[in-house]
Amino acid sequence: LSCGVVIVAAGRGERAGSHAEGPKQYRRIGGRPVISHTLDLFVNWPHSRHIVVVIHPDDAALFETARAASLPAGDRLTVVHGGATRQQSVLAGLEVLAGEEISHVLIQDAVRPFVEPAILERTLAAFHHGARAVLPAVAVADTLKRADANGNVAETVSRSGLFAAQTPQSFHFATILEAHRRASATGRSDFTDDASIAEWAGVRVHLVEGSAGNVKLTLQKDITMADQRLSNGLP
Ligand code: C5P
Repeated sequence: LSCGVVIVAAGRGERAGSHAEGPKQYRRIGGRPVISHTLDLFVNWPHSRHIVVVIHPDDAALFETARAASLPAGDRLTVVHGGATRQQSVLAGLEVLAGEEISHVLIQDAVRPFVEPAILERTLAAFHHGARAVLPAVAVADTLKRADANGNVAETVSRSGLFAAQTPQSFHFATILEAHRRASATGRSDFTDDASIAEWAGVRVHLVEGSAGNVKLTLQKDITMADQRLSNGLP
């Protein structure tokens, strides 16, 4: 397989609050920017032929600092500007890979720095079995409640069969490029992940086991916990 990788990092990270170090993907955990941890795995992965990092135009200097703190990616790394929504940012990254000899693409949130090689291995195995769309996910462990407008419990929702979606979400390249282009052409820009675009386009999405450690850093407390995790010597 010849894989492209799109790492989306063009968000403003507003839910984590503003910070002198910039948006959350550039905050330091274990002494290095979040995105430099994320990059390491993909830069090292033997199947990644070309890595595209999608950034916000204001973050060029922040990204260069983060890149310098990552393992060198040589000339296989391209930086491109994203859009107003995650969906638009992903499409900008996919378009860079269009026309290249890429069979599959892995689409990764910059704010998931703890993704593990085992998830990439399970993804590859699913591709070898013919999957065109692969989603790492973990079964929901908590009991789920739906709230009413007053902040009271309206009902308990069965968690049976429910999974929390992670990244990288990975696809047969031509399939997801076509689905993304079509979604954009129909005026949709609000899909919050790429598997949902594949679902919308009628592509079957295959679930593989994610990992509990592969957390998304959303809030300030997530960044603090990630920093503590690295400072305590955990991978
Ligand atoms: O906003 P959310 O937490 O869902 O963002 C997930 C990932 O998508 C982050 O890595 C963020 O930088 C990226 N993103 C983007 N362009 C946007 C919004 C989010 O690249 N316009």
